[in-house]
Amino acid sequence: MKAVAFTHYLPIDDPKSLFDVDLPKPSPAGRDLLVAVKAVAVNPVDTKVRGPKDGVEDPPRVIGYDASGIVESVGPDVTLFKAGDEVYYAGDITRSGTNSEFQLVDERIVGHKPTTLSHAEAAALPLTSITAYEAFFDRLGIDRDGADKEQSILIIGGAGGVGSIGIQLAKQAGLVVIATASRVETSDWVKELGADHVINHREDMVAQVRALGMQHVDHIAFFNGMNNWDAAVELIRPQGGIVSIDAIDLPMPMAGMKTKSASLHWEFMFARSMHNTPDMIEQHNLLTHVAKEIDAGNLRTTVTQVLSPFNAENMRKAHALIESGTVKGKIVIEGF
Ligand SMILES: NC(=O)c1ccc[n+]([C@@H]2O[C@H](COP(=O)([O-])OP(=O)(O)OC[C@H]3O[C@@H](n4cnc5c(N)ncnc54)[C@H](OP(=O)(O)O)[C@@H]3O)[C@@H](O)[C@H]2O)c1
Repeated sequence: MKAVAFTHYLPIDDPKSLFDVDLPKPSPAGRDLLVAVKAVAVNPVDTKVRGPKDGVEDPPRVIGYDASGIVESVGPDVTLFKAGDEVYYAGDITRSGTNSEFQLVDERIVGHKPTTLSHAEAAALPLTSITAYEAFFDRLGIDRDGADKEQSILIIGGAGGVGSIGIQLAKQAGLVVIATASRVETSDWVKELGADHVINHREDMVAQVRALGMQHVDHIAFFNGMNNWDAAVELIRPQGGIVSIDAIDLPMPMAGMKTKSASLHWEFMFARSMHNTPDMIEQHNLLTHVAKEIDAGNLRTTVTQVLSPFNAENMRKAHALIESGTVKGKIVIEGF
């Protein structure tokens, strides 16, 4: 089967950083599905895993953590899917990735693909939807179905992949959304996705939120970087919650959090599959929920660029774009 892989961890401008390879087609056991992949999306995690470091992979390593495709066959213990079903999923970072013509994935982290979307439109969604959904509803404890409506949330990094679906999920839950964007293009994009207010994460965030007439916000989501930590501590309401999906290597003074009884949560969307938690199936459930909301017209895909065909050249192009840190929405590759 066709795949894009690497043996050495190299800068993306090196043609060997990702190359085309032919690998044996796997077969499913246990709760695994064998999926014929039709489209994949590229995320910052791909570039972090692939980026320059020591080590040699033999056989070549296949990464990629977002796909839409069709179930080809199922393992003997599969109960949720059958051959022919259209599915979308992010997968498991400890296993071979989505950048191949066929892939094995545990059914408990797979959802039925939204029926109203093409494979390219669907492939843009799983990793970022799981991240934003778990951050808001599982970690911060916001009510998905509107019991917390009118509460406010500050989404730092509104225009990226996670922010683009996060804004929509937060609006669906009835929240007042302040999203950050630093360019005209990204500012327009987050408004189009439903943000009530847009502020610039490269300027004084406390002053900008206060200028909106808000002393504090109820929730804060760090969906890109953590360099506004001090502003977040200042802005979070007493007993409010902050969630981060990103960097852990910046200073994060906690004194202001203690005196507000504020809480900090971490979200890592691979945690459930990586640790085989008993509630792993919640990712199947949440992807099913997102697909229903898409098909009902309440959420939209976040794809902004589609590259074709699926090959190493286009994969390197997508990685370089992600590494630029300026992507709006999601980049997808199709055409297997
Ligand atoms: N823990 C997890 O499970 C998990 C899951 C998904 C992603 N992540 C991590 O979360 C980060 C974001 O992922 P993503 O897919 O949304 O990234 P992305 O799509 O590459 O984000 C690009 C966008 O981020 C904005 N941005 C750049 N630097 C920023 C900063 N310092 N503060 C706020 N916004 C900034 C830019 O908007 P402007 O041009 O408007 O500045 C740009 O359009 C990555 O580091 C990724 O690895 C973690």
